[in-house]
Amino acid sequence: MGERICRCKLSTLLIFWTTIALFPRKSLAIGSIKAGESIIGSTQILVSTAQNFVLGIFNPQGSKFQYLGIWFNYIPQTVVWVANRDNPLVNSSGKLTVNGEGNIILLNETGGVLWSSPSPGSMKQPVVQLLNTGNLVLGESGSENYVWQSFDYPSDTLLPGMKLGWDSKTGLNRKLTSWKSSNDPSSGAFTYSIETDGLPQFVIREGPTITFRGGPWYGNRFSGSGALRDTAIYSPKFDYNASEAFFSYDAADNLSVRLVLNAAGLFQQFYWVDDGKYWNPLYTMPGDRCDVYGLCGDFGVCTFSLTAECDCMAGFEPKSPNDWERFRWSDGCVRRDNRTCGNGEGFKRISSVKLPDSSGNLVNVNTSIVDCEAACLNNCSCLAYGIMELPTGGYGCVTWFHKLVDVKFVLENGQDLYVRVAASELSSSKKKLLVAICVSVASFLGFLAFVICLILGRRRKVKGNVISPDITEGHIQSQENEVEMPIFDFTTIEIATNGFSFSNKIGEGGFGPVYKGKLPCGQEIAVKRLAEGSGQGEKYALDGCFSLKSDVFSFGVILLEIVSGKKNRGFFHTNHQLNLLGHAWKLWDEENALELMDAALEDEFQPSQALRCIEVGLSCVQQNPDERPTMWSVLSMLESENVLLSHPKQPGFYMERMFSKNLSAETSTSNEVTVTSLHGR
Ligand SMILES: *[C@@H]1O[C@H](CO)[C@@H](O)[C@H](O)[C@H]1NC(C)=O
Ligand SMILES: *[C@@H]1O[C@H](CO)[C@@H](O)[C@H](O)[C@H]1NC(C)=O
Ligand SMILES: *[C@@H]1O[C@H](CO)[C@@H](O)[C@H](O)[C@H]1NC(C)=O
Ligand SMILES: *[C@@H]1O[C@H](CO)[C@@H](O)[C@H](O)[C@H]1NC(C)=O
Ligand SMILES: *[C@@H]1O[C@H](CO)[C@@H](O)[C@H](O)[C@H]1NC(C)=O
Ligand SMILES: *[C@@H]1O[C@H](CO)[C@@H](O)[C@H](O)[C@H]1NC(C)=O
Ligand SMILES: *[C@@H]1O[C@H](CO)[C@@H](O)[C@H](O)[C@H]1NC(C)=O
Repeated sequence: MGERICRCKLSTLLIFWTTIALFPRKSLAIGSIKAGESIIGSTQILVSTAQNFVLGIFNPQGSKFQYLGIWFNYIPQTVVWVANRDNPLVNSSGKLTVNGEGNIILLNETGGVLWSSPSPGSMKQPVVQLLNTGNLVLGESGSENYVWQSFDYPSDTLLPGMKLGWDSKTGLNRKLTSWKSSNDPSSGAFTYSIETDGLPQFVIREGPTITFRGGPWYGNRFSGSGALRDTAIYSPKFDYNASEAFFSYDAADNLSVRLVLNAAGLFQQFYWVDDGKYWNPLYTMPGDRCDVYGLCGDFGVCTFSLTAECDCMAGFEPKSPNDWERFRWSDGCVRRDNRTCGNGEGFKRISSVKLPDSSGNLVNVNTSIVDCEAACLNNCSCLAYGIMELPTGGYGCVTWFHKLVDVKFVLENGQDLYVRVAASELSSSKKKLLVAICVSVASFLGFLAFVICLILGRRRKVKGNVISPDITEGHIQSQENEVEMPIFDFTTIEIATNGFSFSNKIGEGGFGPVYKGKLPCGQEIAVKRLAEGSGQGEKYALDGCFSLKSDVFSFGVILLEIVSGKKNRGFFHTNHQLNLLGHAWKLWDEENALELMDAALEDEFQPSQALRCIEVGLSCVQQNPDERPTMWSVLSMLESENVLLSHPKQPGFYMERMFSKNLSAETSTSNEVTVTSLHGR
């Protein structure tokens, strides 16, 4: 060992003896060893130059075997890498040496080779270094191109700077393998790796069986987890392209951080609390019981509150109802109606979920968004699709073909999954959606419907049907001075809705699609875009005679249509000849307003909210435009129950009925948001 071995400084020695009683050392080499040099037995070690990591031969507590490993210098009993984990030294002291060809070799007393690094071919001046990152590297003296490094062959621990995942150039697939038990470093049952058969996903396996699956890498994040972001502890990173898929991280501020797959199959992150001298756990995967892979079986969705609970996806029912009731969910669910091929089928959205296992499923990352639903619809074996944001900007399409498994609801950072269901499953969900719209989005919908209508109306006045960029980009002022709400220019709306992107679309109404969006100030909005071919109401927009109050009127109509589930035009009642507005007002006046509510809603609404929707709706359709509220006050009425309403007066147009055969009771089967062609003024 010659000059490189020196006597321990007293301070170093003291720390050693107090914190690592297991690994008593007498002498050490600093930084590196060269060809011909060795580290012998359990008394000699190689220490990194910053003295934070140690390479040596150790004997786990309670074990009769010895191993070559790397551990934290000043932190007790935390081994991060083991060379000969499945071939230990027995009743023998070992020797680590570097031969002239550059092989790092672990020998036992009788010269048997227990472990060696792969042969690098011939090297001139091989040097083995223990870097301050904890990486044991082999390279030519003075070069930083390492021919071998321990970071490429992880044990159970991922240190800052290590990569987990595959690299097509080197053919390496770096994964963690658990210890057998806390004092047995030999390869345990569990592995933690990134699987790329489909979208990349973190997977824990026990032998061949998946026990945990992280959400698929979804363009810029793992589904069900937040975007990777720096914290006070570490800065994570995930890279995925044609040649590499890997996860790695850096630790903040010289913190000692480690990610470890323990012998029980839990993947945990810790950082070392120096003043408390303990490893502080930051997270553990699987986190809750819903993380147990496939707990709910095919087409099941898991919800975790205090315990895990499985439900079938909408349109599905338990395959084994008796088991299901006994909380044995693994058989999963089957379709209630399997006419999902060329029978008017469609998709149901499941929001805020960790997306299903993508392995073995076809992933079309490069289908255009517009085609995503169509692509899935047109192939009868397509079960579901999702829209994903690409890191390069824009969107991609993911489709699932074989099974939908391991889906759970998440509070944050979930995605939407669109599941193929038969036509018979479609209508009922729309009603629920509409309640949601009424109670929470209605205000913004109406508000912005107005803004967009106004913009389009004026635009058409100027240039017929041609969209004129000059006009759309500028701020558009209302003709009326009574405006007391912000007016947005087209560009702002366009940005807020991601260019009216498909993934922002939340529905389709009479005038055209409705989009959700976010204004620069963070306010969430719903935007209704007038569609040229929507064939409804519509003259309404073309003649451009918009006023604030006419739009308030139509908003009122929409609101009443939503809560009643009926269209105003064609509304028919056996007892009278009133239209929907008249009917609503009559019920209201008789204090029976709740009778107006859509029967399909059963009791899934709060009476107070329902009454308020009706009340606001009626006040919007009052006969005298001057008595109708402005959209701004409609907003506050819907948002706050504290805003007092004046008793609505009788609606305009409520006696106006044209009777014809085709106006028979049209209890809207599709129940879309529909605007009638009534004129407010
Ligand atoms: C190893 O040592 C133990 C006690 O020190 C002894 O009982 C055992 O026989 C030894 N085994 C071998 C293979 O030498
Ligand atoms: C050294 O290792 C060789 C090869 O594994 C083995 O055959 C031999 O018994 C070992 N010697 C001792 C003393 O453990
Ligand atoms: C893949 O990503 C790695 C890491 O960012 C990068 O070095 C490499 O050039 C990329 N390869 C391709 C083909 O984009
Ligand atoms: C990290 O440690 C190095 C060496 O001990 C020191 O020079 C540096 O200032 C430290 N950085 C921080 C942010 O503590
Ligand atoms: C659909 O379900 C019916 C009864 O539930 C069954 O008889 C039929 O074979 C199923 N069809 C398909 C294509 O699975
Ligand atoms: C996506 O598809 C377009 C056209 O089909 C093609 O030009 C582009 O190269 C594709 N991108 C990727 C990443 O495959
Ligand atoms: C549907 O998609 C699957 C998977 O991509 C494909 O194998 C099959 O040929 C497609 N079927 C049709 C009719 O396009």
